[in-house]
Amino acid sequence: MTSKTVTLTDNATGKVIELPVHQGSHGPDCIDIRTLYKELGYFTYDPGFMSTASCSSAVTFIDGDEGTLLYRGYPIEQLAEQSTYLEVCYLLLNGDLPSSDELHNFSRIIKEHSMMHEAVRGFYDGFRHDAHPMAIMVGVVGALSAFYHDATDVHNPVHRKIAAHRLISKMPTIAAWSYKYANGQPFMYPKNRLSYTGNFLAMMFGVPTSTYEPDPIFVRALDLILILHADHEQNASTSTVRLSGSSEANPFAAISAGIASLWGPLHGGANEKVVMMLEDIVHSGKTVEEFVGRAKDKDDSFRLMGFGHRVYKNYDPRAKIIREMTHKLLAEIGGGEHDPLFEVALKLEKIALEDDYFVERKLYPNVDFYSGIILRAMGIPLNMFTVIFALARTVGWISHWNEMMQDPESRIGRPRQLYIGSKTRNYIPIEDR
Ligand code: ACO
Repeated sequence: MTSKTVTLTDNATGKVIELPVHQGSHGPDCIDIRTLYKELGYFTYDPGFMSTASCSSAVTFIDGDEGTLLYRGYPIEQLAEQSTYLEVCYLLLNGDLPSSDELHNFSRIIKEHSMMHEAVRGFYDGFRHDAHPMAIMVGVVGALSAFYHDATDVHNPVHRKIAAHRLISKMPTIAAWSYKYANGQPFMYPKNRLSYTGNFLAMMFGVPTSTYEPDPIFVRALDLILILHADHEQNASTSTVRLSGSSEANPFAAISAGIASLWGPLHGGANEKVVMMLEDIVHSGKTVEEFVGRAKDKDDSFRLMGFGHRVYKNYDPRAKIIREMTHKLLAEIGGGEHDPLFEVALKLEKIALEDDYFVERKLYPNVDFYSGIILRAMGIPLNMFTVIFALARTVGWISHWNEMMQDPESRIGRPRQLYIGSKTRNYIPIEDR
C-alpha cells in the first residue's frame, strides 16, 4: 500500500475527491474506489471485470504482456521442471515450499483422506448412464457438503485446512468414479502405495480382475499437466468460488460452484472443444485454411478453440511448456507425431501465428490447445479432459477460498448494476391490459 492518490473531479457538480492507490508487489497499481458511491453517488461500470481487481491476493501472479506466471513467487517454468503436483499443492496452500519432512507429512495426509464415505457411491447411481462426468463432478462434490457440514466451521483455520486436505485428496477418486460410472465398470478404490497421479490413473484404467501399473511416462506427463493447471489467480471459476464462499457457504458447495463455472467452453471446457474442432477439421475434408477463414469471419460465430486469452496477450507460458512436452510424449509413445490430428494442430498453430488477424489481436495458442492433444494421446477420453482440469484446479480454488476467509477486508460479494429496465410503472389489472 502507498500514499499515492488519484484525484477525481465530478464535472457535473465540481466536487473533487481523492482516492487512495494501492501498490502490489507486482502488477498495475489499483485505485481504491470503495468510497466512490458514498462520496459522489456513482457506481463504476466494468462488465467482465476488464479493469477491476476484486480482491488482494498473495497466491498467484500473472503478467499477461510478459507471459509470466508465478505461484507464490515461483516461476511456473521452474516448478514444471523441478517440482511435483503435491509439492505445488503444499506451496499454494501454505505459501512456501515444504521441507522434506513437511512434504512427507502432507503426502501422507492426502493419501489418508482419499477414500469416500460409502454412501457417496449411491449418488452416482442417480445419474443417467450417459451423464457428462463434469455434471457428475458438480453433483458429487456439492454432495460432500452434506457429509462434512457440521464438521466444517468456516471460521476455524483447522477446519478449513481439513476441508482443503479432504478436497485435494478425494478429487481423484470422485473424478475416476465419474468415468467408471459412465463405462459401467466397477469403481476402483484408492491405493496408498501409488503416487497421487499414479493412483488417479489406476482408479481410471484399472479393473479388479487384473493388476494395473501406471506407466511412469504418463504419470510424469499428467503430473505436469496438474502443475500447469493448479492455479491461475482470479479467473471465472476461482472468482465463482470466492463469490459463493463470501456468503460463508460450505466450502464443498462453493467448490462445486467453481466446477460448474469451469465447465464452460470459454474456460476449462475449451480443452475438450479443441479436440472436437481438430476432429471436425480432419473428418470434414476441408482445409485448415478454410477453418481459419471461418474464425476470422465476423458473420460466423465459429472461433478457433484453444486460441486467445483474456489476460495473456503474449504467449501463454503454460502453453510453451506443454507444447514441448506434447512433442516429447508423442515421440516417446511412438508414432504419435504422425497422428493426423496432431498434424492438423501443428498446421493450425503455424497459420494462426502468422495470420494478421491473430497477430493483431494477440491471439496465441493457450494451454488448452495442447492439453487436449496430450490427454488424448494418453488415452484419456474426451469428456474427462475438463474433469482433469477441475482436479488440478481444486488446490487453487481452496487456497483462494482460505485466503478470502482469513482476509479482514473480505465481505460478502455484492456487485451493483446499471439498471436499464422500465421506469417505475403502475400495476394494471389483467382485465384492463
Ligand atoms: N478465434 C477467433 N477470434 C477470436 C478468438 C478465437 N479463439 N478469440 C478472440 N477472438 C477475437 C474476437 O472476435 C475479438 O475480435 P474483434 O476485436 O474484432 O471483435 C478479439 O479477438 C478479442 O476477443 P474477446 O472475445 O473480446 O476477448 P476476451 O478476452 O473476452 O475472450 C477468450 C478471451 C474467451 C479466451 C477468447 O479468446 C475465446 O473465446 N477463445 C476460445 C476459447 C478458449 O480457448 N478458451 C480457453 C481460455 S484459457 C483457459 O480457460 C485455461
